[in-house]
Amino acid sequence: MIRVICLGIEGTAQKLGVGIVDSSGKILANITKYQPLVAGIHPREAAQHHAEHMKDVIKKSLQKSKLTLDDITLVAFSKGPGLGPCLRVAAIAARTIALIKKIPIIGVNHCIAHIEIGRLINRVEDPLTLYVSGGNTQVIAFDEGRYRVFGETLDIAIGNCIDQFARTANLGSPGGPKVEKLALNGKYIPLPYVVKGMDLSFSGIYTAAVDSLKHHKIEDVCFSLQETAFSMLTEVTERALAHTEKDEVMLVGGVGANKRLQEMLRTMSGEHGATFTVPQPEFLGDNGAMIAWLGILMYSSGEKQSIEETNVKQRFRTDEVIVKWRE
Ligand code: ATP
Ligand code: FE2
Repeated sequence: MIRVICLGIEGTAQKLGVGIVDSSGKILANITKYQPLVAGIHPREAAQHHAEHMKDVIKKSLQKSKLTLDDITLVAFSKGPGLGPCLRVAAIAARTIALIKKIPIIGVNHCIAHIEIGRLINRVEDPLTLYVSGGNTQVIAFDEGRYRVFGETLDIAIGNCIDQFARTANLGSPGGPKVEKLALNGKYIPLPYVVKGMDLSFSGIYTAAVDSLKHHKIEDVCFSLQETAFSMLTEVTERALAHTEKDEVMLVGGVGANKRLQEMLRTMSGEHGATFTVPQPEFLGDNGAMIAWLGILMYSSGEKQSIEETNVKQRFRTDEVIVKWRE
């Protein structure tokens, strides 16, 4: 088979990523650039940031891979889900490359890209995946030709909950690592535990955590926020694991960097005889390599998109995609 070299552009939220991957799964480059958050994400400002840095990030990733644009045989971009203005910048850059270089273009689902790069990097076969980030919270598993969502948040994402809390408590941004550090010296105080069937809600716990700051030490609130929210996530993942009977659990998304969440999931997985994996930081959060790799998988399974079909999709559901590249 001829070697496909794909350049993938990630731009769903505040991070801009450009990755270059070949059809053997070799990562040739994976460059990320993001605007540090001050007061939460502003879609148009983030889009402006991506537009300003696009050329430079593409150039850096080509330099890193020791290739030129002429060597690229496929271009992929994050079609959604994400923030409209950011998605459009990534799509326009990808279309421009496709048209100038006369190469095929593929818009991919961002959530599925997280799973596929994890399967590639960690050599897992068929994991039950918990995807937790600033914009997403989903429990996903492959079943009958699609990635099915077994549970998800009904309101805000877990990363958003933690970041908003951290901002209100003046801990700075991003909040995840700060809350994790303070939690090491905290004690338990009750916060609302909201699991509805297989779905989760984090807005109540955010409000209660902010309220608790009036009467409790910040360390105790951070500890309890983590214990409560991560127990909710672990409960839903555990039930999905029992239901799907998978024997691998994978954690992806920026919040997956949290050691306490990893510990809870590792323990739960062990109790069910399942292995637990979490990709290294470079491939855990948003990155361009995951977009390029999913582009290759889709292209190799016969996917073709015309330029007219490369519109972005802000609410692109994980289970909409027919997965032709897996048995
Ligand atoms: P997406 O577009 O997929 O929603 P994102 O823009 O939120 O992604 P990511 O890098 O995947 O980007 O995730 C960032 C989130 O991860 C932030 O909410 C941040 O607080 C959180 N995070 C990072 N490190 C930790 C940590 N150690 N503990 C908890 N949360 C963390
Ligand atoms: Fe993501």
